[in-house]
Amino acid sequence: MSGGTVDPAAFRQALGHHPTGVALISSTHADGEPVGLIVGTFTSVSLDPPLVGFLPTRDSASFAAIRKSGRFTVNILAHDQEHLCRALSRPADKRFEGLQWSPSSNGSPVLPDVVCSIDCSLEACTPAGDHYFVTGLVESLEIHRPVAPLLFFQGGFGGFVPGSFVAPSDAIVAESVQAVQYIRDGMQRLAHAAHGEVTAYAKVTDHAVAVATVAGPDVPTSTILGSKWPLTPPFGEVFLIGAPEAETEQWMNRARTAGEELLRISQERLDHAHKHGWAGSYAGDTRDTLLFPALTEYGVDGVTPAKQREIQEMLRAAGEDLRPVDLDPEKQYEGASLVAPIRNRHGRCELMLRLCQIPPVSGARIEVLADELCRLTREAEKSAFQV
Ligand SMILES: Cc1cc2nc3c(=O)[nH]c(=O)nc-3n(C[C@H](O)[C@H](O)[C@H](O)COP(=O)(O)O)c2cc1C
Repeated sequence: MSGGTVDPAAFRQALGHHPTGVALISSTHADGEPVGLIVGTFTSVSLDPPLVGFLPTRDSASFAAIRKSGRFTVNILAHDQEHLCRALSRPADKRFEGLQWSPSSNGSPVLPDVVCSIDCSLEACTPAGDHYFVTGLVESLEIHRPVAPLLFFQGGFGGFVPGSFVAPSDAIVAESVQAVQYIRDGMQRLAHAAHGEVTAYAKVTDHAVAVATVAGPDVPTSTILGSKWPLTPPFGEVFLIGAPEAETEQWMNRARTAGEELLRISQERLDHAHKHGWAGSYAGDTRDTLLFPALTEYGVDGVTPAKQREIQEMLRAAGEDLRPVDLDPEKQYEGASLVAPIRNRHGRCELMLRLCQIPPVSGARIEVLADELCRLTREAEKSAFQV
């Protein structure tokens, strides 16, 4: 049946703005082999009697098998289980390959570490356009891990961040602003000596927020205080110096979704930053006129999967320009930007200094400026955090 006067693409696009949870509906074939499908249509239906529902496509072979079994278990996936969702989106015969599971009270697969599992007997299966509306009578349920669920929105995966999380972020910014007070004179001196701009950025969840900036004489300030850009790979590697492994892993996972080339560049930049203790970028034009304005806008409007794709496309196009560079002391570098981390008393980097807007200079001079920048970050660490 055709969709009346509604264009299917417009339908999908508009409905994609509605977020959904992600659940695995599982059961077993008569021979005990697992069967299941990922749905974004799982919903609670009724309290008395306790009913839940979901909508499989009418041509789903996996649902046909579930229907035959007359029972199923709903596995609510957690925010850190995108990899499971991807595995379970493979062709039906490979879906459970390499996955661990244990049988629920009705024998259907329950995956490890899901948020909760709900065991049901199949109650009704009502045709609804090209889908069925399936209801299940809940027979038992168990919360395994009360963490944020995996969400699907605008064709991408994400998690839920409660609004009240803004409060600790404010605390981080306040602490960072205080730390920068100690090195304000030093920042000013460096900005003068380098004929550039020195800006301090605080790490607030997965964004860098400009908290202080000073510029040398006749250097136009390009940074708006409070502006933020997302720490989207390959950027933000400096914040990972001294970070717990899980944080680095999270950043690398984000790099993975950006494709092979950006993954390689991100790893190279991370290695480079670890080796030198600071990072430099010399793709002034691409970075300042194209990437940074787009990233800043992305930081203001919020991170949505659609915007993320747009930025990743831009980063992919920038490709080579983002590779870390081994400086040649004799060569002139245009549009250099140097960043160095400031570690807090826990050894974590939640603040960094960036020197930019400098005129073309030699590789040897950049090394000197980077030394100065690192001296300044150490001064901040000593004065503010007694590190
Ligand atoms: C996030 C997400 C949500 C999905 N939601 C549904 C859904 O609600 N209903 C559905 O039939 N398929 C949904 N699918 C697709 C199924 O997981 C599955 O690939 C498709 O139904 C084919 O299944 P089959 O191999 O059993 O025929 C979704 C896939 C993803 C990744």
